[in-house]
Amino acid sequence: MNNLPHPIQYQGSKRNLASSILVYVPEDVDCLIEPFAGSAAISIAVAARKIARTYIINDINKPLTELLRLIIESPVETATFYENIWSEQHGNSINSIEHYYKIREIFNNTQDPRLFLYLLARCVKGSVRYNSNGEFNQSPDKRRNGTKPKTMLRNILGVSSLLKGRTEVCSLDYRNVLMNAKDNDLVYMDPPYQGVCGDHNPRYFSGIHHYDFIDTLADLNVRGISYIVSYDGRRAEKRFGEQLPQSLDLTHIELEAGRSSQSTLLGREEVTYESLYLSRALTDRIGSKLLTYCRTRTKQRPSLELFT
Ligand SMILES: C[S@@+](CC[C@H](N)C(=O)[O-])C[C@H]1O[C@@H](n2cnc3c(N)ncnc32)[C@H](O)[C@@H]1O
Repeated sequence: MNNLPHPIQYQGSKRNLASSILVYVPEDVDCLIEPFAGSAAISIAVAARKIARTYIINDINKPLTELLRLIIESPVETATFYENIWSEQHGNSINSIEHYYKIREIFNNTQDPRLFLYLLARCVKGSVRYNSNGEFNQSPDKRRNGTKPKTMLRNILGVSSLLKGRTEVCSLDYRNVLMNAKDNDLVYMDPPYQGVCGDHNPRYFSGIHHYDFIDTLADLNVRGISYIVSYDGRRAEKRFGEQLPQSLDLTHIELEAGRSSQSTLLGREEVTYESLYLSRALTDRIGSKLLTYCRTRTKQRPSLELFT
């Protein structure tokens, strides 16, 4: 899964965990619904394995979803626009940092999604940040110039060929995209980390409320919808955010997400785990595949917790 195309640099992207998450995706998915899509890493990975027939990619951040739409529907034009903006930063009349701030200002005035692609490629750690007026205010990464246009073109064409003709892109609150989910679909949800949730969220464009989210999951359970949730995790014994309650009848799995760079700097060897929760409808659907995999994993590392 390492060679998958990824035009959008996005902090919190699940591209590195995609193959571990796909283990729990059934083989007969009508529609993969990603209500908190971000860079759509899981839709891209599922499409590369041709698992789902159609895709719904949603995120509350409209310039981001508009960008995904352009990447899918108009790949060459989008890549050409990127190349032009990227090349301007090497012009003689302006240095690359001033250029970034100029593009950022135009983006905040126009919300042009094509400018957002350049800002994400060029900003610190691909991490979006917003001020209280909803303006994008992340700084440029002074050590990098952003993805080279040739690489960007390859990534954009790759995503377009995987998703064009089978994808609906929208920008709604997550609850609205779940209304039409059916029992042959699969919903993958990766909401913002709880530490950054609430109405104003500087880390992402918006946040969610933990208890609304639990109510939404309970409703999906009543409707028998298969879903997977990525929801915070832990580093060594330190847990981030609240776990989802046992009343939701979920299977909880911990995925190893790598060594924490912060701990390494402090001379500690601490591994970060991300929580993955599977709905009962999903575990009933993938049945024996899940059990075989869980047995193998439990032998390696006994941190798997089955709530069921
Ligand atoms: C952790 S990121 C998702 C990252 C994604 N899995 C990826 O691979 O790039 C969470 C996303 O949720 C979106 N979001 C926040 N509140 C939302 C809401 N109420 N409805 C829909 N999307 C929301 C944010 O804009 C952000 O892109």
